[in-house]
Amino acid sequence: MDRPRIGIIGGTGVYDLPNLRFEDDITENTAYGEVPLRRGTYEASTGDSVDVIFMARHGSDHSVPPHRVNYRANVTALRSAGVHRVVATAAVGSLRADLLPGTLVLLDQFLDFTRGRITTFFDEVGEVRHTDMTEPYHGETRRLLLRAAGKAGVRLEARGTYVCTEGPRFETAAEVRAYGSLGGDIVGMTNVPEVVLAREIGLAYAAVALVTNLGAGISANPLTHEEVLEAMEANRLQLAELLGAFLEEVSTGEFGEETP
Ligand code: HPA
Repeated sequence: MDRPRIGIIGGTGVYDLPNLRFEDDITENTAYGEVPLRRGTYEASTGDSVDVIFMARHGSDHSVPPHRVNYRANVTALRSAGVHRVVATAAVGSLRADLLPGTLVLLDQFLDFTRGRITTFFDEVGEVRHTDMTEPYHGETRRLLLRAAGKAGVRLEARGTYVCTEGPRFETAAEVRAYGSLGGDIVGMTNVPEVVLAREIGLAYAAVALVTNLGAGISANPLTHEEVLEAMEANRLQLAELLGAFLEEVSTGEFGEETP
C-alpha cells in the first residue's frame, strides 16, 4: 500500500511536531498561481510513516491577509501534491461567553458572511454545478480527529458552527451578538471558501479551530491581533499533540482515501 499522504493547512504550532522530519520545500504551479509547500515525513510509533504536506495559508512569511488569500490556488496545490485528506487549523474568536480561549473546536457547520471572494471552481458559463454542502466537513476525518483527541487526552469540542466574515477588520459587538443568535459558536475569516473549494474537488477536509479570544463585546477589552497571536502561541502544544495523535491514527493505514 502507498504511504498515506496528509495535507495540513495552517502552519502555526505544527512545525515542531515530535517525530516529524522535514524533507524539502516545493512550489506547486497551479492554474491559479504558485503555492509554496513543505514536505515532511511523520514517523509513527507503530514504525509506519505518513507523508505530510504543509501549507501556510497566509504564505510562508504570513503576509497575505485573509480576504486576499488565493484559496483556489492553495486547494488545487494540495490536490496536485497528491493529497486526499486535509486537516486545517484556524484561529477563531468565541461567540459564546462559555466557550473560552484555549478551547479546540472541531468544526461541523459554517455560516458564510464573506463577500467579494471567489468561492467556487465552477464559475464559467456552461459549467453549472451545485455542490451539496449539508455536512461541509468530512465525516470520517472528523471521527479520526475525535478518536485521536481521546487517545491523546486532548480536549476537543466535538462540534462548532463557524461564522466566516470578510475581514480583515474584527466584528462589531452587534455583529457578535447577531452571529451568536443565528447559531454561530465561533468566528473567523478564512474557512470559507477553503472548505467549499476542498469539497468541490473532493478533498476529505476537516478543520480544527483554536479559540484565541472572546468575540468583540463579550470581552471587556478591544481586540488586537497580538492577543490572537499570543493565544495561538500559548496553545500550540495542544494543537501539535492533537495533530501528532491524528497522524498516528492515519499511520495504521486502516482508512481508505474515499472522497467526501
Ligand atoms: N474575529 C474574527 N476572526 C478572528 C477572531 C475574531 O474575534 N479571533 C481570531 N480570528
